[in-house]
Amino acid sequence: VSLESLREVMGDCTRCKLAGGRKTIVFGVGNPSAELMFVGEGPGEEEDIQGLPFVGRAGSLLTDIITKGMGLGREDVYIANVIKCRPPNNRNPELDEIAACEPFLRKQIALVKPKVIVALGKFAAQVLLRSRIPISKLRGVWSEFDGVPLMPTFHPAYLLRNPADKRLVWDDVKKVLERLGLQIPQRGR
Ligand code: URA
Repeated sequence: VSLESLREVMGDCTRCKLAGGRKTIVFGVGNPSAELMFVGEGPGEEEDIQGLPFVGRAGSLLTDIITKGMGLGREDVYIANVIKCRPPNNRNPELDEIAACEPFLRKQIALVKPKVIVALGKFAAQVLLRSRIPISKLRGVWSEFDGVPLMPTFHPAYLLRNPADKRLVWDDVKKVLERLGLQIPQRGR
């Protein structure tokens, strides 16, 4: 099985009610054998239009974290979301929608086999870890998803509203780089 064939299995998905409101299925993008995988919540307006994850305002900040913060390129990592279709007016994904979509994320992780997963924000962290602990408590602490080390951190959209907390994400990023055996770039951030 490949990511391409998994995408084909998804087809013109109608497994949940988000199918009615979406423009595009946002499957995921990046290096299919990435050592580092980011998991976000779900597509926003811009992602729904372009069919790519993290291409809006929060996406530019994620790109900065990857390039300036980590010294990597977006093409080096794999980026996906828990939910592949945009919820109406960006409301939170609902339990039945997560249940319908989560098997695809799990398969994506199994196919990419990253060395580290970064869960971006409360949704990704709580869904992957089956936890109800707030992201403020989860972040910065190593967890595990199916044997893969997982670092929860704040969502870039949260950082746009709370720029002072970028400092904490930088701490989390350093732990991830260390775990991957990568250099901390000079003056990252
Ligand atoms: N927020 C997310 O969680 N995912 C995206 O793809 C874009 C914004």
